[in-house]
Amino acid sequence: MTIRVLFVCLGNICRSPMAEGILRAKAQDAGLELEIDSAATAGWHVGNPPDARAVVASRIKGYNIEDQMSRRFRSDDFETFDYIIAMDEAIRRDIEAKRPAGKSVPIVLMSSFGPDAEDVDVPDPYYTGKFMPVIALLEGYVDGLVAQLLTDRQ
Ligand code: 4NP
Repeated sequence: MTIRVLFVCLGNICRSPMAEGILRAKAQDAGLELEIDSAATAGWHVGNPPDARAVVASRIKGYNIEDQMSRRFRSDDFETFDYIIAMDEAIRRDIEAKRPAGKSVPIVLMSSFGPDAEDVDVPDPYYTGKFMPVIALLEGYVDGLVAQLLTDRQ
């Protein structure tokens, strides 16, 4: 069974596209068959590729994200995906508000997949320009997510 995973951030041009690229690579390495996508809560960058700084930083780490395109989160995403993963608490709240009645798929924070399972925000590199530390953070969270998905598959 294919597990479907959606990452959500504000613009879908920095954090969630990088998470998508990292999970694509790590899922392949782990032999996991997934459907992976990412989306934005804000419409500012719809139709655009990821931020050039995210593309370069990802490429340095071996992830190709340049073919992705920003799209808006939709309420039917609650029907399509098994995991909806928010990059920070504000995003989690925003998408929770769009939940249709009767849809129970949980929205989880990205940081919940970290070794300490804490509720912390993934810092937004759009404003700070600090892309490499955010990629390193995301790689650790994706490792935890892959471990969880391998357990789900059993
Ligand atoms: P992201 O970062 O949510 O990680 O994609 C941002 C991208 C764009 C903007 C803010 C955050 N913006 O203000 O345009």
